[in-house]
Amino acid sequence: MANWKKRLEAGALALSVFALAAVSGWGPGHRQTDQEVIGAAKLPAGPYVALTFDDGPRGSTTSALLDGLAQRGVHATFFVIGENVEGNELLLQRMEGEGHQVGLHTYHHKSLAQLSAADFYAEVDSLRSTLTALLGREDFMLRPPYGMMNAATQTRAAAPIVLWSVDPEDWSDRDTQRQVSIILDETEDGDIILLHDIYPASVDTALQVVDALMARGFHFVTVEELFAIRGEKPENGKVYRHLPPSLG
Ligand code: NI
Repeated sequence: MANWKKRLEAGALALSVFALAAVSGWGPGHRQTDQEVIGAAKLPAGPYVALTFDDGPRGSTTSALLDGLAQRGVHATFFVIGENVEGNELLLQRMEGEGHQVGLHTYHHKSLAQLSAADFYAEVDSLRSTLTALLGREDFMLRPPYGMMNAATQTRAAAPIVLWSVDPEDWSDRDTQRQVSIILDETEDGDIILLHDIYPASVDTALQVVDALMARGFHFVTVEELFAIRGEKPENGKVYRHLPPSLG
């Protein structure tokens, strides 16, 4: 069903484009270094980080975020809710078309730890079908709402399970300054950052974090690209919180 090899190859292709973009100085404020010029045929040395956004899409905020990411030449990962996909189909196609990764966050934002098998498949497989019809693929990674899961979740997932390693709890106060500060303090090579693209403050946080971490040499990639960079094959039912360089 899921063809991860194909996606990894596609990821590798995207990365070579990404590397060339980095070397050519694509994106605001990027300074080309001698190492990048010498290593033009290779990937940038890193560090790498994956921005992930849950609970969307939402017309106003997600559009603004996609605009900001496009201006910076940055790819992110969006774990979407099925009922929010309805009416926002064009946004999903824009994500896919602009090189972002789309993933599953259930149809109605249900905790997967408390669902019967039938309800699990209704929440996860129904969203997978919706996204497949929209985007023409079916190998979507899964982020369980609230990070809640149990052994049955892993058995039933039929997808790699992606959690996170940096969480500013952006839902709690919508305070961009506090969120940016936490993320900049905590983020290391291979981290997966959790934000929500349904709040204007979180969009501001994301774009400020991109600018600040790019200035520190970080490269922003999708979760799939991060797997490809580490040479790690994502496995269905396995839980991933980050992909540090020691994996590669
Ligand atoms: Ni959520």
